[in-house]
Amino acid sequence: MHTQDIRRHFLKYFKDHGHSIIASSAVVPHDDPTLLFTNAGMNQFKDVFLGESHRDYKRATTSQKCVRVGGKHNDLENVGHTKRHLTFFEMLGNFSFGDYFKKEAIQFAWDVSTKVFGLDPARIYPTVFREDVEAFLLWQAHVPADRIYRFDEKDNFWSMGDTGPCGPCSELLYDRGPEYGTATNPHEDKTGERFLEFWNLVFMQYNRQENGELLPLPKPSVDTGAGLERVVALKMGVESVYETDILRGLIAQIENISGVKYEADDARAPAFRVIADHLRAAAFLIADGVMPSNEGRGYVLRRIMRRGMRHAHLLGAKDPLLVKLFPTLQTMMGEAYP
Ligand code: ALA
Repeated sequence: MHTQDIRRHFLKYFKDHGHSIIASSAVVPHDDPTLLFTNAGMNQFKDVFLGESHRDYKRATTSQKCVRVGGKHNDLENVGHTKRHLTFFEMLGNFSFGDYFKKEAIQFAWDVSTKVFGLDPARIYPTVFREDVEAFLLWQAHVPADRIYRFDEKDNFWSMGDTGPCGPCSELLYDRGPEYGTATNPHEDKTGERFLEFWNLVFMQYNRQENGELLPLPKPSVDTGAGLERVVALKMGVESVYETDILRGLIAQIENISGVKYEADDARAPAFRVIADHLRAAAFLIADGVMPSNEGRGYVLRRIMRRGMRHAHLLGAKDPLLVKLFPTLQTMMGEAYP
């Protein structure tokens, strides 16, 4: 199962369980000044969580294009250096607007992880927010208590930004085995490479105010996000999101054009990863209306493009490289995101 299949099977599962399939919103939240770029699937439903608008459905599912550069969730500096961070990625999500809550969210995530994605149940480690006894007990329907780990706010309390919807969360981690580190449990795994987070379930309960105060939302809700590229990496049994079909396809094209071979552990490998990632981020930002400029979103785009170009130079490219890669990207993602 590769990217297209995982995306399709995920959406179908939730459709079969009463969710409306909603299209991804733009990566640029044009009507939300609190947000630089769309950083999660829930962004387009922010006002529904806050009770400020209504939709004719109470359950939704999406595959959302996200950009995490600048703002609260920023992965720019990690890209190239880790094997799991991306500035542009797709987030698979299911959402409940005052309909189901923790029990069903956990049940759905377990079923999808083990039956739809087909991951080994014995290697899944859920985490819960320190104080969330209810989630801790609910997970015990699926995994033994000693495989459920408690974490603090930093890891298990999710907020969209400095203000807005937020709540305690429960993450699903997958133990990729001792090849990925000597840590024997999620608490010891400081790099996060062995116990790879692939899904986050947020139990949306509060609206964070500018002064930090947490006001209750009108109705407890659910917002989840699974990293599509990470799930595909787990499915394909490859060590990095850059080995998954779309990104590896872009890297193969960089190899063709530059004449340099990609070796995952070579000193030049980060350049390949930066170029492949930044091409996607830049292309999707431009497609949604951002132009390179000296300020705001345009400046961030300019930085991304410049960083991509610098790494193309590092690979010895004398002519513009990114533009030559674009047709490959279009072939791989144009159908899902016309
Ligand atoms: N909104 C949550 C996240 O991005 C699911 O992790």
